[in-house]
Amino acid sequence: MASNVGVIGTGYVGLTTGACLAHIGHDVVCADIDASKIERLNRGEIPILEDGLELLVNEGMRSGNLRFVLGSADSVPDREFVFLCVPTPQGEDGSADLSYIEAAAREISPRLQTDAIVINKSTVPVGSTRVVEQALERPDVHVVSNPEFLREGTAVHDFLHPDRVVIGADNQAAAIRVASLYLGLAAPLMVTDPASAETIKYASNAFLAAKISFVNAIAAVCEAVGADVADVVLGMGYDKRIGQEFLRPGPGWGGSCFPKDSFALIRIAEDAGYDFRLLRGVVEVNDQQFDRVVEKATVAAGGSLDGAVIAAWGLTFKARTDDTRMSPAIEIIHRMQAAGAIVKAFDPAIHSDIEGISVVGDPYAACDGAAALVILTEWDEFKWLDLEKAGAHMTTRNMVDARNLVDRGRARQAGFSYQGIGRS
Ligand code: UGA
Repeated sequence: MASNVGVIGTGYVGLTTGACLAHIGHDVVCADIDASKIERLNRGEIPILEDGLELLVNEGMRSGNLRFVLGSADSVPDREFVFLCVPTPQGEDGSADLSYIEAAAREISPRLQTDAIVINKSTVPVGSTRVVEQALERPDVHVVSNPEFLREGTAVHDFLHPDRVVIGADNQAAAIRVASLYLGLAAPLMVTDPASAETIKYASNAFLAAKISFVNAIAAVCEAVGADVADVVLGMGYDKRIGQEFLRPGPGWGGSCFPKDSFALIRIAEDAGYDFRLLRGVVEVNDQQFDRVVEKATVAAGGSLDGAVIAAWGLTFKARTDDTRMSPAIEIIHRMQAAGAIVKAFDPAIHSDIEGISVVGDPYAACDGAAALVILTEWDEFKWLDLEKAGAHMTTRNMVDARNLVDRGRARQAGFSYQGIGRS
């Protein structure tokens, strides 16, 4: 059954949610306070790199199922459901900053129809459903938690083929109404209380971050004992309880979610009287991982980064996105620069200098005069670049492959000394 839906905020989460809900037949109005963004969207231009999103936005606009409006005021009056998809950035003390979500709730409050359901989709601290209820001051409106589990780059696929849909509501009837929005999708659907739904989101991200920190720690052990992390992970992953996914060693995890959500959960636990030492360890291992890559680059540069020219391939926090927020690549480059390195970077999705890093438009130009090449993001195209040509641009052929991306044999054949993560 088609419903009238409003979506406040057209970032990664809001735009994907709006476009996908329109795709499965709902009538969707997306609102944002950024006038230029709304103008671009109305022209069918998508501000982010997200597989399949442009197609769905254009399809929705053509069918009339999807509209974009400036400001939330016009987006809610006739809406049965209003999704809050505004940012919850990390505040100074590590906790999530709820000011955007509270402001949005206050703004829409006078215009919501009776019996409307306001849905928190942004990742919000446990207890935020109550915060939104208080900001709304509308006892006739229900507030429900419905966390997203979308990965950047595959957000459309993840929305349309979810592993689960989680609904946190005190009111069963409201939960059932929210569940009806997802009827077109084949996914396990669970209804719980709001605090549990909010906790599921944080616990899932923290667990995934822990998985990566664990495998990065195992990679360090592999280096110390002469094991190969790729084989170790493969062997572990055959155990169904462990699984093959999310066990890729790398330069550390980053992005707009894991760092923010890990700190927020540590803070949530602390405020509730629990010292989440395990998660603090997960964060610490991640920070060490950045330094481990810098150490490898130091070895590759001949023992010191001071004055060394370093080529960096990759700036985004992972491949197939243009997002550089909390990118391990950028953090590692900054740490190399702090040690005196002169870094030239190339990334297929980044076309100008960024955060004090000089960016060139060609992967080989990044190698000009470099003593070492450091691969920081797992872009597929890096696998197929001509290493002979890259080496010819460099003063010495040294490579740190922080994603274990390229074929070691091919690198060595092209005359490179090769250091991966957890394998020699
Ligand atoms: C993450 C979660 O995967 C989503 O489920 C969640 O909805 C989202 O955060 C969110 O909270 O909104 P995303 O930030 O897009 O999604 O990034 P991931 O694909 O999870 O990768 C996070 C980081 O871990 C990246 O830096 C990536 O390179 C790294 N990673 C991932 C590894 O180093 N190894 C792996 O095996 C997997």
